[in-house]
Amino acid sequence: MAVTTLDRSSDVATHPWWQRGIVYQVYPWSLQDSNADGMGDIPGILSRLDHFEKLGVDALWVSPVYPSPMKDFGYDISDYCGVDPRFGTLQDLDQLIAEAHRRGIKLIMDFVPNHTSDQHPWFVESSSSRDNPKADWYMWRDPAPDGGPPNNWRSMFGGGGWQWCETRRQYYYHAFLKQQCDLNWRNPDVVAAMHDVLRFWLRRGIDGFRVDVIWHLLKDPEWRDNPPNPDWRPDEPEVRRILDTMTCDQPGIIDLVKGMRRVLDEFPDTVLIGELYLSIERLCAYYGDSLDGAQLPFNFRLLMDPWKADVVAGLIQQYETHLPKGAWPNWVLGNHDNGRVASRFGPAQARVAVMYLLTARGTPTIYYGDEIGLLSGIIPPDRVQDPQEKNEPGLPGHNRDIARTPMQWDASPFAGFSSVEPWLPIQPGYETRNVAAEEHDPDSMLWLHRRLIRLRRAHDALSIGDIKIVKVEGDFLAFERSWGSERFIVALNLGAKPIDTSLSEADGGRIVLSVNGGRDGEMLGTRLMLAGDDGLVIELG
Ligand code: GLC
Repeated sequence: MAVTTLDRSSDVATHPWWQRGIVYQVYPWSLQDSNADGMGDIPGILSRLDHFEKLGVDALWVSPVYPSPMKDFGYDISDYCGVDPRFGTLQDLDQLIAEAHRRGIKLIMDFVPNHTSDQHPWFVESSSSRDNPKADWYMWRDPAPDGGPPNNWRSMFGGGGWQWCETRRQYYYHAFLKQQCDLNWRNPDVVAAMHDVLRFWLRRGIDGFRVDVIWHLLKDPEWRDNPPNPDWRPDEPEVRRILDTMTCDQPGIIDLVKGMRRVLDEFPDTVLIGELYLSIERLCAYYGDSLDGAQLPFNFRLLMDPWKADVVAGLIQQYETHLPKGAWPNWVLGNHDNGRVASRFGPAQARVAVMYLLTARGTPTIYYGDEIGLLSGIIPPDRVQDPQEKNEPGLPGHNRDIARTPMQWDASPFAGFSSVEPWLPIQPGYETRNVAAEEHDPDSMLWLHRRLIRLRRAHDALSIGDIKIVKVEGDFLAFERSWGSERFIVALNLGAKPIDTSLSEADGGRIVLSVNGGRDGEMLGTRLMLAGDDGLVIELG
């Protein structure tokens, strides 16, 4: 691939915390159990704040802790303004907000606006008749002439997307489980009610929201069928048999995002993050034409695309081309819906990936456990929890439990996570792969994270600086970050074989951090040797 200069001068006048900072995702089920019921909770998160402070992250995004029947582990909410007793109380959450803030850590809630639980009072009322005050709050449709579902829309979790309601003698649409009923965001009352939910939390001191499946919010107003997917393979989930042309990324969604943003802007220094599995070009639309949409529409390309030097360089280039003027990028390596990065890329290459994550231009999000190199979990069939896997078992990469196993804190029987058998099994090898053990090992993934974070925080070039691709060749990727007089080159080997190349740009530079250690302080000439699965941060004079 040709070397491309991306000298895009930084046009961001100020750099709020969510641009300079690092986000850390907590999956509350699995961080820390404080009351011996085998599942994590809010007091558990509170008891681990030292870990986050020491790691050096700026914000915690906590996956849903709202009251829920837990059909989809909290993404099926029955009360947007409360805390599920499994996780604690509203007072516990207030305490977490206060204590995190005392330590300079922001708290981001998960906001799930696309659907409610079928147990939510709104749905209970809506489904009770065709003429109640909330009759039009969900996606109700009459049956097709043959009495079947109104169209071919499917559920992401397997099976059809329409559920029959005998009381109304109508179907309702659910993009996920039938117990997750899609709200009708074309109804202004729904919009107003959801804005009030945002205000409820913002008034309690929440610093922002990660908005669940934001690109699903509106569906085709004419309810047209989705077209078939010519590329579907039998080892893929059923839902991919058809494309999502009529059910996702519809015109008008961005106006809804702007509406949410206006609410957040009533509260200073808040951030709106959107969940989007979209191309770089499409996700950039969610910033809004005047940067009045999401501040950080999630960029999940590293979860979706091959980890190859030319691919990553291509992503950087596309991103820098499509970002609206002044918009800020972001990168994600792992979350609760995808296999662990240490398994996807291999443990050695995952270290290179984290060097990328923490030196790239854009806000990094770290998924809990990735900082100690957790592998994807092994889940015996009788321990499967994920509804997606239960509905369509055995599809590759389908069981999300593998990314949700308990955090491994120490070598005690349940890894310091709990005093009883946890909801998902602790993984083999936890006796050595845990926070306490890695604390004593300067070569560990934990130390690598801490070093990279410290370096990023110490240098504007690495946090808010501009980016320029310097060289892409085989498994080799080098880019420059610069800000004012500061310049760094990051040189990565995305493969397992050693690299011997020339890099005149690094001439006279000094290695300040290497993925595998042992090279700190080394001065470089124009020739660059890099071991397999290694990476360097080089400071230029
Ligand atoms: C998002 C969540 C996922 C959930 C789904 C439905 O993709 O990340 O965990 O199952 O939305 O709410």
